[in-house]
Amino acid sequence: MKTYIVGNWKMNFTVGDASVYLHKLLKRIKPARNLQVAIAPSTIALQPLSLQIDRKKLKLAAQNCCGKDYGAYTGETAISQLRGMVDYCIVGHSERRYVFNETDQQIREKVAACVRNNITPILCIGETESERTFGETRDVLRDQLSSGLKDVSREDLEKCIIAYEPVWAISSVKGARPATPDDIANSIKIIREFLREMYGKTIEEKMPVLFGGSVNPSNAGAYLTIPGVNGLLIGGASLIADQFDDIIETAKKVAS
Ligand code: 13P
Repeated sequence: MKTYIVGNWKMNFTVGDASVYLHKLLKRIKPARNLQVAIAPSTIALQPLSLQIDRKKLKLAAQNCCGKDYGAYTGETAISQLRGMVDYCIVGHSERRYVFNETDQQIREKVAACVRNNITPILCIGETESERTFGETRDVLRDQLSSGLKDVSREDLEKCIIAYEPVWAISSVKGARPATPDDIANSIKIIREFLREMYGKTIEEKMPVLFGGSVNPSNAGAYLTIPGVNGLLIGGASLIADQFDDIIETAKKVAS
C-alpha cells in the first residue's frame, strides 16, 4: 500500500504566499514510488494552485466541502465545484466537528458527496481528551466510522481514506501532547477491527489509515512504522518547508 503524507495548511497563507510556498516545495520534492504527497490549502487558493502544481510530485486536497452538489447554500463550496482541481478532501476534521459544530449527518453527506464526485475523502476521526479519560475511545472511534461511512457503498469504500487524529494531540489544542506509538497502535487496532467486522478483511487491508497530531520530523519515523499506519496528516509542521521536506524524506525511506 502507498504511504500518504498530507499537509493540512488550515487557515494559513494568503493566495500569494501559498503560491510562493508551493513553488519552494515543488523544487524540493522528487516523485517517489509508493509515496503520495498532498497539500490542503485554503479553498480560495485551490484554483490558482491547481494550475501551478506538478501532480507527479504533489496532489491537492480541499480542507472541507459542502455535502450538496449545488443550490442555495450561501458561502459553501460544493465538492463538485472542485472537480479537476483536487484529488482529496479532508472531511470531519475535529476543528469542523467541535469549532463549527458539524454534525454526523453533515459529515456523512460530505463523505458521500466526495465519493460521488470521484474525489477521495479523508475522513478524520478521533476522541477528545475527556472521552479518552472516561475510557470512551473505542466507542467514539467506532461511532464516527460507522456514521461517516454509512452512505458509502461497498465498492466505493476502497476510495476512502481514514485519518486518526486524537483531538488531545493536535498541536493547536490547549494542553496538547504528542501521542505515544502505543496510544496510536491501540486506536489503529480498534479502527482496523471495526473495518474487518463491518466490511471484511479486504477493506480492512486496503483502506489507508493515516495518523495526525503534533507530527514533526523527530516523531514521523516512529509513527510511520506503527503497524496499520499508512501515512500522516500534518498541520503545523507542513507550513515549514524544511520540516515538511524532512518528513517526506523519512516517509520515502519507510515506504521503500
Ligand atoms: P498538528 O500537526 O499541528 O498537530 O495538526 C494536526 C492536524 O490537525 C492535521 O489535520
